[in-house]
Formats: sequence, structure tokens, C-alpha cells
Amino acid sequence: MTDLPIVGVLLSRVRVEEKLLLAELETRGVEIVRFDDRHFTLDLSAPDPAMVRCDVVLERCINHLRALYTLRVLNDWGVPTVNSYEVANICGDKLLTSTALECARVPSPRTMIAFTPESALEACEELGYPVVMKPAVGSWGRLLARVNDRDAAEALLEHKVTLGSFHHGAFYIQDFVRKPGRDIRSFVVGDKTICAIYRDSPHWITNTARGAVASNCPVTDELHELSQAAARAVGGGVVAIDLFESDRGLLVNEVNYTMEFRNSIDTTGVDIPARIVDYVIAAGQTERQERDALITSSAQAAADD
Ligand SMILES: Nc1ncnc2c1ncn2[C@@H]1O[C@H](COP(=O)(O)OP(=O)(O)O)[C@@H](O)[C@H]1O
Ligand SMILES: [Mg+2]
Repeated sequence: MTDLPIVGVLLSRVRVEEKLLLAELETRGVEIVRFDDRHFTLDLSAPDPAMVRCDVVLERCINHLRALYTLRVLNDWGVPTVNSYEVANICGDKLLTSTALECARVPSPRTMIAFTPESALEACEELGYPVVMKPAVGSWGRLLARVNDRDAAEALLEHKVTLGSFHHGAFYIQDFVRKPGRDIRSFVVGDKTICAIYRDSPHWITNTARGAVASNCPVTDELHELSQAAARAVGGGVVAIDLFESDRGLLVNEVNYTMEFRNSIDTTGVDIPARIVDYVIAAGQTERQERDALITSSAQAAADD
């Protein structure tokens, strides 16, 4: 059995989730090194010794861009991260997620992309109202719009063009899926679907951040297989999958890479932070073993010379 890994934790403000993860890491007796994205700088030509010393870094930033750039640099320095830069990049962008799901033949709502208001209007007509428009980069149900008719589509597109930022320059348009007053969120850690919740809401937007109520959802074989397929489609790791129950069966809506889980521990009875920490420690141990093996073989090669 190798030594316990050194675990870096990349974070910003410490929320309930980070508190639980840090507490769990502490109980395992691993060395924890915290990196606060409000304070550190990254010198691309000089790997940070405290960072490259880590066997694995768990990313828990709130801001997507900070997470993305830091993961990229850490991975370039050879530091494994949960999740990887590639996973964060795909999950952080709904268009990249949707196309990854399509490529992997994971059932998902029909989605179109358009780059001008005129062609976006054509996409709306092609899909048929109501449609849903979302910023490709965004979360917590913010700036989502259910567009019921052409008048609303025209007004919304004009607002986006006039007031929107860079990310509103591409129009992500999707079939409105009629779901039964709830959606499903499943939690995937490596090759396990550890639990799932229903998110019930009288509103069509069912994020718990928008007031939806969580209850336990049994992990059926179908839910497990689809969750695994969705996780694999984006590169795997520790992710949370949003799914809709539709008349076409279960559809995967999106995959989240720095998931919140505070409302799901008591609801499911599953110790989510403990399962995440198991995965992180295993990843760190694998890295440590590989590094040790490399050192031993190069020492051997030097002795043979
Ligand atoms: N195409 C859709 N049809 C019906 N409801 C949707 C659709 N897309 C999103 N929603 C609702 O809005 C919520 C938030 O959308 P989502 O794509 O997950 O964005 P976010 O990243 O903001 O969570 C979903 O959980 C779901 O309840
Ligand atoms: Mg979501």
C-alpha cells in the first residue's frame, strides 16, 4: 500500500460542499493543500512547486473561467485533476455538451445552434414552438427562456443582440420538453451512479437554486446506464447529470462538472462527499504509484549504465 496522496483543493469561497469535502479529506488523514483562486497567480513558464507537488487536485471553484484556465495549466504541468480540463471545458459549455452527447448517441433534447437573429428565428420555426433558449455558458437556471411564439422569439433575440454579452452571440435553441413537473439529477462518480434526486417544481425550470424541492429518485438500470453513457461522453470523472422524463423516454439535458450536492445527501441517504473523496484519493494513489514506478525504473536504468 503506497503512502496517502497529497491532495490539492482548488477553491474560492468555501460553500457547504467544500466544507464537507475538506472535512472528509481530513478524516482520511491526507495532506490537504488549498489553492484559493482569488489569490494565486500562475506563471506559465514556472510550475508552482506547491501545485506540482500534489498527486491530485480537486477542483471546486465557483467561477467557470477560473476553473477552466487553472485546470488547463495544472494538466499541462502534469498534475491530474478531478475533473480534467477537457471535462470542464465540455460540461461548461452546453453546445459542446450537446454535441458530445449526440456523438455518443445519448438521447437528448433536439438542439440547434444559430449565429444571427434571422437564422435563430428560422431554427425556432424549424423546431416548433415552444422552444427553450439558453446561454451556452451559464448555470443555476439563469437567463433561460421558454419561447412560446414568434413574437416572443423576435423580442428575445433583439434583446440578446442589443444587451447580450459575448456568450449571447451564439443562439442555443432547444425543443421544449414536456416533463412531469420535475426532472432528475443523477450523481456519477467514476463508474458508479451513486444516487439521484427528483427536482419537483410548479415552474418549468427545476433547479433547486430556483426553489425546486428535492426527493430521492431510485437509480434504476436505465438511469444508471444513461448516466454512465452521458458521463463517458464528456470524458468521465465526478459529474452530475440532468435528465428529463419524456414521451421518448429519458433524455439527458446537461452534465455538470463542479456539482453542488448539499440538498442531496439527506435526501438520498448517500454520503456524496465521502464517495467523491474515495475517488479523488484513488486517483492520487494511482498517480503516486505511477510516479514511484517511473523513479524506480529510471534509477534502475542509471544503475545499469
Ligand atoms: N429543453 C428543455 N425543456 C424543458 N425544460 C427545460 C429544458 N431545458 C432546461 N429546462 C429546465 O430548466 C432547468 C435548467 O436548465 P439547464 O439546461 O439545466 O441549465 P442550467 O445550467 O442553468 O441548470 C432544467 O433543469 C429544466 O428544469
Ligand atoms: Mg442544470
